This record gives sequence, structure tokens and C-alpha cells, in this order.
Amino acid sequence: MAEFLDLEIQDGVRMPWNVIPGTKSEAANAVVPVAAIYTPIKHFPSMPVLPYSPLRCRTCRSVLNPFSIVDFAAKIWICPFCFQRNHFPPHYASISDDNLPAELFPQYTTIEYETPGDTTPIVPPVFMFVVDTCVIEEEMSYLKSSLSQAIELLPENSLVGLITFGTFVHVHELGFGQIPKTYVFKGSKDLSKDQLLEQMSFFAKKPKPAVGVIAGARDGLSSESISRFLLPASECEFTLNSVLEELQKDPWQVPADQRATRCTSTALSIAASLLGACVPGSAARIMAFIGGPATEGSAPIVSKQLSEPIRSHKDLDKDSVPHFHKCVKFYDGLSKQLVHQGHVLDLFACALDQVGIAELKSAVESTGGLVVLAESFGHQVFKDSLKRVFQSADFDLGLSSNGIFEINCSKDMKVQGIIGPCASLEKKGPLVSDTVIGQGGTSAWKMCGLDKSTSLCLFFDIVRKETPDATAQATSNQFYFQFLTYYQNNSGQMRFRVTTLSRRWVAGPGSIQASFHLLPSFDQLYMILELIAGFDQEAAAIVMARQVSFKMETEAEFDPIRWLDKALINLCSRFGEFQKETPSSFSLSPRLSIFPQFMFHLRRSQFVQVFNNSPDETAYFRMILNRENVSNSVVMVQPSLISYSFHSGPEPALLDVAAIAPDRILLLDSFFTVVIFHGSTIAQWRKAGYHNEPEHQAFAQLLRAPHDDADLIVKERFPVPRLVICDQHGSQARFLLAKLNPSATYNTEAALPGGDIIFTDDVSFEVFLDHLQRLVVQ
Ligand SMILES: *[C@@H]1O[C@H](CO)[C@@H](O)[C@H](O)[C@H]1NC(C)=O
Ligand SMILES: *[C@@H]1O[C@H](CO)[C@@H](O)[C@H](O)[C@H]1NC(C)=O
Ligand SMILES: *[C@@H]1O[C@H](CO)[C@@H](O)[C@H](O)[C@H]1NC(C)=O
Ligand SMILES: [Zn+2]
Repeated sequence: MAEFLDLEIQDGVRMPWNVIPGTKSEAANAVVPVAAIYTPIKHFPSMPVLPYSPLRCRTCRSVLNPFSIVDFAAKIWICPFCFQRNHFPPHYASISDDNLPAELFPQYTTIEYETPGDTTPIVPPVFMFVVDTCVIEEEMSYLKSSLSQAIELLPENSLVGLITFGTFVHVHELGFGQIPKTYVFKGSKDLSKDQLLEQMSFFAKKPKPAVGVIAGARDGLSSESISRFLLPASECEFTLNSVLEELQKDPWQVPADQRATRCTSTALSIAASLLGACVPGSAARIMAFIGGPATEGSAPIVSKQLSEPIRSHKDLDKDSVPHFHKCVKFYDGLSKQLVHQGHVLDLFACALDQVGIAELKSAVESTGGLVVLAESFGHQVFKDSLKRVFQSADFDLGLSSNGIFEINCSKDMKVQGIIGPCASLEKKGPLVSDTVIGQGGTSAWKMCGLDKSTSLCLFFDIVRKETPDATAQATSNQFYFQFLTYYQNNSGQMRFRVTTLSRRWVAGPGSIQASFHLLPSFDQLYMILELIAGFDQEAAAIVMARQVSFKMETEAEFDPIRWLDKALINLCSRFGEFQKETPSSFSLSPRLSIFPQFMFHLRRSQFVQVFNNSPDETAYFRMILNRENVSNSVVMVQPSLISYSFHSGPEPALLDVAAIAPDRILLLDSFFTVVIFHGSTIAQWRKAGYHNEPEHQAFAQLLRAPHDDADLIVKERFPVPRLVICDQHGSQARFLLAKLNPSATYNTEAALPGGDIIFTDDVSFEVFLDHLQRLVVQ
């Protein structure tokens, strides 16, 4: 695994297949897709930033890179993508074997360019707070205090706006100093951008232009009219704080049998139109703080009658939710508008009820917005996550904006699409595949918002056909990929990142359908061994996790368990070693050996077993899975477990109920939740206060160690995870038990003495593996 991690450290890329099945049919036989998980603006401390423009191939526009073949004498480079010969321009005249420009250094496969003499003025970032006021007083005061903290942390030069909503939408004019003024809009009625501009008297002094799109200062909006609503943080801190202080919860009476009238969609739509009119193309984020379900406007998730329950997965499955499709359609529209304007929607959903994340998902995900789900605005998960957004010291998220991501690859492969936070720009071309996965039909994507850890999952189609001539391999057997990312970094400057990769491909003599155990031809055997050697099982598991989640959302009647099981069985029968009909003979190379375990945990995970969660929670988990890197995603699928005891230092423990012991502390990290679990004896000693006594220093240390480690995890993660501290047999222990392999259940007698058993009918990993082996050898 180490070499795959090295590749990630160099380029921010992980691929399930680092040796690529080289033909269409070999790729199909390989079961796990040819894919890449790429972190476009991953932070590399030693990455060079070049102060000049990149050289591009004159035919295919790919950027000069270390895989280009250079003829120093003739001053020519050959593009590895299209084989075009390109002349170096005069300022490269001095290049030679030992005087290479940085972009040709073999180790600089990832490099960044900054545009020389970039004179575009730095556009300040814009934050539009959209605040729900239909919450109880207590929540209101938590939210106010978090918001005023956030305002203090805002970059000085950033522009800020405020919209509050409940039954009505209030757009606050902050530019008036002493006399606070608001524009009030009906929550039930959608407004077009033109109507909005009209009503907010943007054209009081000047006639409205007769034709054309109205967008920003260039199109006739005076900067005074813009600065009524968007003011530099440094100038409006006082006004903003006094508006917040005065802010009341929505004053409209809510009958006992009803929900509050909450016009979330109208408020978001007004925020989007206002930003679209004032600052199109600027790095702007709508930050929505929502405390309950939308019930009013074009996209209510539920009616006001409390007698109507909020939709569950069962309801969605039966397609019996009257509002759902309407809402999704509304937010698809909003998402298109935001992507067009280049603006981001961030969602902070803090309520015990669902607020409508499932409906809002497309708008947040396609704009690269952040999402945080907590049960209250007073909860640490919300408070600390919000602080992290604005913190610019050690754990800076590296929020960036206005990204465009493009790709080019060798002509024998095509790109099917991306599962991740981006939107297709529908740029057609020869490398765009007809089969679409996620955001597809394009070779360029918009990333309105992106940060240091945003990770895209790209899917490829191998289109190279079988050649009857097995020696075809001898010619060129490298595939090249180039990932190009333009973005505005968090100090507002444009950067251009280029990552160029090369991967070897292998192919057997296509026509023979063989696998390991069938006395295959030498070529076939060679190919299978090569593929195995390049298999990154963690990356593979995460590609499968994103794909299964995506299919569950988009394909009616899709059976995720069947699909995963089939994939696993096919993968094991192709790459495992066994004798037919002899389950005990089955073995897997170390390169594949933990893949079945990943699939076992994926089947049990929140991504697949959705019925244990609400549609909002599922949407939340999946949005985060779709933006995280491989190592964080692995923890979501298969949590990590560390055991602390007097007998040994902290050590990784098997994610199994057998890990529980009275004299152990366990630290479970499942990404969204971090659990510190005290075995019963430890809990007793702690309750007796032993750790406070001088002679029990060692015990005090043992108690502290998992807390220190948990702090480290909490500090650098976004969203900040929920920290659960619990004791064996306590009610909170379920947070741990739910994630453990049920090797001992009430069905098995052999629970360990002093251990624990799990009450479940789920099969254990041993039973699962047993079934797998029997099916594979059939
Ligand atoms: C990418 O490279 C191919 C050659 O494989 C070339 O024909 C094509 O024009 C390039 N596409 C883009 C979008 O640059
Ligand atoms: C994955 O992302 C996390 C959080 O952004 C980061 O701390 C970690 O180093 C990343 N892992 C790799 C291997 O890049
Ligand atoms: C953003 O880019 C500019 C210009 O290239 C650079 O000076 C600055 O340090 C960058 N900021 C960050 C946070 O990377
Ligand atoms: Zn080229």
C-alpha cells in the first residue's frame, strides 16, 4: 500500500487500478471500474509555483509535462497525448539536458502556474448569511452568538450581507448605519431577479436598462446600490451585530397542530438573485442556517399540518411524497442559477427535525458547498465547524473558488463523468464517453467552491479494442492523464494547477475468457498478476462506495446488496486462487485480501443501510463521502478502532465485538462520530475517582490518552465530528456497538467472558467470508 500513498503524496491521486486493464473487455472483466480519486488543490508544501504561463501543445492544448519527449538539439517537444511535435518558444532557447525548466523535472508531475503580472484587482470574498428565525428563543440565542463570532473572524475586506426568513423574507440593508431598514417579501411567492431588483429600488435613480441581463456594476448597477446590501465586514460589524441583537424569532403565531411557516426556498432564491445581480462571477457564498423543515414557498418538504409526518426513506421508496419531486426540481433550478453565477451554497442544518437536506443536496453539491448537520445551534458540531470555516491559522480549510476542472487523456480512453462536488460544463469532444456516470457528457467541470480536501472521483471508459495480435503490447503501453484546475486561491489570486499522470496498461489475448484457476495462457496469467500488483484496495472500496450510493439515488429498483455481492464474487473469482468446488482452497493476494472486509462493512454502512437514518442524514453522509479523500472515506466505511490498556500501549484493534474488555478503553473513529468507550472495570475505577489519587498516576494517564488522541482527530476534521464518551453497558455504547462486527451475538454461545454481545441478526464477517468462498469456487 505504501507506494500508492507515495503517489498520493506526489499528485493527490489514488486509483483502484494502477496498472490498467488495457482493453474494453479486460476492463469489464476487472469488475472495479477504472477510476481516479483526485484532490485538485491538495496542499503540497514543496510544490513549485511557476511565475510564467504554461506551454501548451498546439493541437490538443495539453500542457508541457515531464512525460513529453524532448529533443534538445532541435528544441522540440512531443506531446504524449496526441504525439504532435511542438517547437519551444525563444525564451526556452537555453534548455538542455542539465538545464531543465521545472515543468520537465520528473518529480514535478504536479505543478502550479500563477499568471505573470496578473493585474485583475483582487475581488473580495462575499458572504451572504441567510438565517432562519422560526426557531425557539434558546436556539435563536445560540445562533446569534455563533454568528457574531463568525463576523469577528471574517476577513477584513470581505463583503457581507444578511437575509432572515420565516413567514416572510427580510433583506437587510446594512449600508444605512443608524436607521436599520429591511425589504420584506412574501414567503409564498417566488420572485424573478428582475422583480427583485425592481422592488428593491435598484433603479430608483436611473431607468432600468431595456434589454439584456442585469448583472453587476458593469450592467448599470451603481456601486452605491450594491453597497446597501453588501458591505465590507470592517465597516458593517457594528450594524450587523445590532441587527442580530434585535433579531426576534418569527413573530407569527403557530397553531398547536401546525408547523411554523418557513419559506426556506424563497429566501435562498432571493439570496441567489441578489448575488447574481450584484456580484456575478465573484467568489460569493450563501451560508444558510436552517433550524427546521421548509413548509412554505415553491419547495416545502412537508405541509404545515403536524399530522403529516416528514418523509422517510420508506415514503420515498414508495414514491408517495407529494412534494419531493417538486422540491428537487426547484433546487435543480437554483443549482443551475448558482453554477452559472459561480456562487456557492453552504448549508448548516441544525434541528432535531429534518430540514430538507435531501431536497437541497443538488444545489449544495453542484456548487461545492459545505454542509454541516447537528441537532442544535448550541451543539459543538455546529459551533466548532462554523468557527473552522473562518479560522485561517493551523487548520485552515483552504476555501477557494471559481474553479474550472478539465481533463485530457490518451486517445484509447474516454471519461464517463465525475461523482463529486462539481457541475458539468457540457464541453463535448472526442474524449467524452457516451456512458455517463454522475456529472458527465463533458471534459470540463465548474467547481464554484473547492478546498484543500475536495476530492473528485473520475470514471473512465477504456475504448481500446482487442487486437488479435498479442504482441501489440510491445508498442506503447502507457496511458496518460492530465488534470487541469484553474481556481482562485483563498487570497483571491488565480492559480492554474497541472497534474500529469502516466499508468501502464496490460492486456491478454482478448478472446480467451479465462481466469486464474483455468490453466490460463501465459499472457493471461501475466496480465492478472500485473493487475493485482497495481490494485489499490482502499481506493477501490471508496470508488465502489461512491458508485453504490449514486446508483441508490438515481436508479429505481436498484438492489445495492446484490450489486455489491455480485461485484465481490466476480472480483474474487477472477483474481483469487482456488481449486474448483473446494472452498478451503480459496486465497487472495495481500493486494486484495482486505477488500472483502471493506465490502462487508460497506454493506452494513450508513451509505447502504439507509433505513436506520432519515433521508436528510443519508443525503448528508453521502455528500461528505463524495467530497472526501480516500483515507477519510475509508474511516466512514470501516471505522478505525484503537485499544488502550495497562498491558500495552495504544494499538489498533479489530473492528469486532471481541475488542471489548472490562479493562480496556476503546477509541472508535467513524468520521462523523468519535467514541471513547470505557470497559466496565475502567468505568468503575473512574467513578470511584482513582485517577485523582497520587498513587494511581498510571490510571490517570490511561484515562487521558484516548482523549488526547480524540482531540487531535476533532481538531483537524471538517465537519467537526460528534464526540461521544460512554461506558460499557451504558446507553451511549450503541454508538460503538453498531459499528462492530457481530462475531458474538445472542445467536452464538461463545461470547467472551466479561465481553459483550451484539443483538442483531446481521451475519458476522466470518459467515460472510464463508459464503463468499463457497460462491466463488462454484
Ligand atoms: C485531448 O487529447 C486528445 C488526444 O488524445 C486530443 O485529440 C484532444 O483534442 C484533447 N482534448 C482536449 C479537450 O484538450
Ligand atoms: C485527507 O484529508 C484530511 C483532511 O483534509 C487530511 O488531514 C489528510 O492528510 C488527507 N490524507 C491524505 C493521504 O492526503
Ligand atoms: C494565492 O496566490 C498568490 C499569488 O500566486 C500568493 O501570493 C498567495 O500566497 C496565495 N495564497 C495562498 C493561501 O495560497
Ligand atoms: Zn497534444
